[in-house]
Amino acid sequence: MIHRLDRWLSQGGWCSRREAPVFLRRVVATDGAGRRLLDPAKRLVAEDIRLDGEPLDAPHGLLVRLHKPAGLVCSHDPAEGPSVYDLLPPRWRRRNPPVVTVGRLDKDTTGVLLLTDMGALVQRWTSPRAGVAKLYEVEVDRDLGPDLIAVFASGTLFLDGEAKPCLPARLEIIGPRAARLELEEGRYHQVKRMFAARGWLVTRLHRAGFGDFTAEGLAPGQWEPLPLPNATPAR
Ligand code: URA
Repeated sequence: MIHRLDRWLSQGGWCSRREAPVFLRRVVATDGAGRRLLDPAKRLVAEDIRLDGEPLDAPHGLLVRLHKPAGLVCSHDPAEGPSVYDLLPPRWRRRNPPVVTVGRLDKDTTGVLLLTDMGALVQRWTSPRAGVAKLYEVEVDRDLGPDLIAVFASGTLFLDGEAKPCLPARLEIIGPRAARLELEEGRYHQVKRMFAARGWLVTRLHRAGFGDFTAEGLAPGQWEPLPLPNATPAR
């Protein structure tokens, strides 16, 4: 893919296209033959560009697997407090298209969270029709009863204020106050509201799986870039 140099720079969050001439005097950009690049309009492939000797990171799209710790929100709004985006390189906040979370986890929820700048991936993985399985580990404030398994599986559970019942979900009780819940929807605060609908308060919530992705191998707050899935549409 051949683009203007200033487009590669603005996509990667290095500078805006307007700032590119000044940026290129401050940072040494070179092409595949090691020649200095000073013309923002120069057209080239991303792989040929070096900035102070370093290749561009994720020039064709970014996908990150994060183990979200408690205490961070999934929001770009600084008014909402510390955010998962604070864990990533600061320059990525200026990437264009922007890096966003694939769905959201509550501030107190931990576990696997994907982030990407590829709108098509967000669509693919959050669309209700896609039915991506989410696996949650849940702790609640009082003992669970086996009846809840049938209630959650029934497809008749209504959340407060909603007209459509939840799709069937699979509940596995693994301790007096601990369970695993697998669901394919992603409604607002869904897990907490499903338990609340039957009188339980969720005291701990951890997402152990999102589709094929888990937080395994990552400590809370740690993340890693992932290869883009096959057949990812262009941005
Ligand atoms: N359901 C919730 O209630 N909270 C989350 O963070 C995720 C799912």
